[in-house]
Amino acid sequence: MEPKILSGKEVSNSVYAALKGRITTLKSQSIIPSLAVIIVGEDAASQVYVRNKTRQFSNHGLFSDTITYPSDITQEVLLSKIYELNKNIQFHGILVQLPLPNHIDEDAIIDAIDPKKDVDGFHPYNLGCLAAGKPIFIPCTPKGIMRIFHHYNITISGKHVVVVGRSNIVGRPISILTSLKQANSNGTTTICHSGTDNISHYTKQADIIILAMGSLGYLKGDHVKEGAIVIDVGINRVTDNSPKGYKLVGDGDQLSLSEKVSAITPVPGGVGPMTIAMLVENTVEAAERTQV
Ligand code: GUN
Repeated sequence: MEPKILSGKEVSNSVYAALKGRITTLKSQSIIPSLAVIIVGEDAASQVYVRNKTRQFSNHGLFSDTITYPSDITQEVLLSKIYELNKNIQFHGILVQLPLPNHIDEDAIIDAIDPKKDVDGFHPYNLGCLAAGKPIFIPCTPKGIMRIFHHYNITISGKHVVVVGRSNIVGRPISILTSLKQANSNGTTTICHSGTDNISHYTKQADIIILAMGSLGYLKGDHVKEGAIVIDVGINRVTDNSPKGYKLVGDGDQLSLSEKVSAITPVPGGVGPMTIAMLVENTVEAAERTQV
């Protein structure tokens, strides 16, 4: 049987519909949820991601301003911009697109962002709150994955969730979210990573697999059990003859997986649109919190 396609596009539309009233209420108080985006360097993929994010801000009547720096910018200049944005009450959220050039200490940059404006949820304060089961800002991609589970009535409780990847952006926070003792969670979560021997030993036992290691077509049908659910966070560029010159492919081999799995997120149109919808939602939350 063909697997169910878990459409992040569809779920994101329901997120935007639910946000509409909240945005209208804020606007009636003359508050436009606003995001400052910092992008450093010429990385083509980062530029596309940032454009996709800011496009949804304007589509939904929110404001965003993108500040672009050349790749040789110093850490000091970047830090002083963040300190300035922390104080600027026009902006409810600050996002520094990652990765940053090697000469810049990413942790120092993230630490400098006011946790109240950290709509990415990457600041150690926000990651700590999440780990303690009292989240304030939840990182956008993991939050979006949980929303996909909720939308499609996928129960996590009692299931074995295998996360492949341990980054602070996806793997670590989704491993926390899927194992918290709360509604729509309560799973038994295993994290696999570059130090794991024989990752397929774990993925073959999984009810739900979350692929977040950035490795083109890594997971094959042979690596999963019949009926598993696969969430594919990978976005890899493969050159082709299309006008763009490339297509996007996930970390899962969709062809062989589709013969085994019961449900799977597509790439593109799966997790990607949810990351952006959750960024919009987190920015609306940040704006609402300035009210209380
Ligand atoms: N790079 C890849 N994903 C993300 C994300 O969600 N936020 C930021 N700031 N950078 C990223």
